[in-house]
Amino acid sequence: MDDVLRQAPLFNALDDEAAAALRASMTESRLRRGEVLFREGDSGDKAYVVLEGKVKLGRTSADGRENLLAILGPGQMFGELSLFDPGPRSATVTAVTDAAFSSLSHEDLTRWLDGRPAVARGLLTQLAGRLRKANDVVADLVFSDVPGRVAKALIDLAERFGRTADDGTHVHHDLTQEELAQLVGASRETVNKALADFASRGWIRLEPRSVVIMDLERLGRRAR
Ligand code: CMP
Repeated sequence: MDDVLRQAPLFNALDDEAAAALRASMTESRLRRGEVLFREGDSGDKAYVVLEGKVKLGRTSADGRENLLAILGPGQMFGELSLFDPGPRSATVTAVTDAAFSSLSHEDLTRWLDGRPAVARGLLTQLAGRLRKANDVVADLVFSDVPGRVAKALIDLAERFGRTADDGTHVHHDLTQEELAQLVGASRETVNKALADFASRGWIRLEPRSVVIMDLERLGRRAR
């Protein structure tokens, strides 16, 4: 579990002693699948690192539709925006599997960053990476069709959660088809059609909450 924590951007630049000190000021907590950690609009005072499981970061439109900003897994951090840009939580965080977290109060995080530019740089790198990704998502919403976005989402999930086996890359994303559609920003029907098309071409095999990518190259080309 410590190894997972050490992958988090907050810990990247720390030596063992400093990492142990930071860890000592963090608190562990757990959620069952489907439970909400906090909601968009809440006021927040903690940042979190995922230790086990996966969470979805979602937003709801005024008419009740849901969009997913991201799926985060072990070693990934969230909940710091409301500290760096003081304001309410920018997304609702829900466990998509049973999950464990280590959390740090915003107050402790601020104290920790003061005088540790390397740690602050780690967090800036994470924020920059997210902005880059968010720009890609916007461009894809404008320029790419739904199958292209589905292909891209599958590849992104494969990069983070995939395991290579003889018959391809097994991606246990733990998402329902509805959640996959919310992640891609399209209707469930359109996303299902794209998945069925990829399956009929032999690029992927669909399993409940999981997909096996058999032809990463062709899927990758469709994502471009
Ligand atoms: P905060 O606004 O405190 O609570 C929700 C968190 O979701 C936010 O901090 C970020 O850490 C995280 N978050 C928001 N938008 C994105 C995104 N596009 N990609 C990854 N994480 C995000």
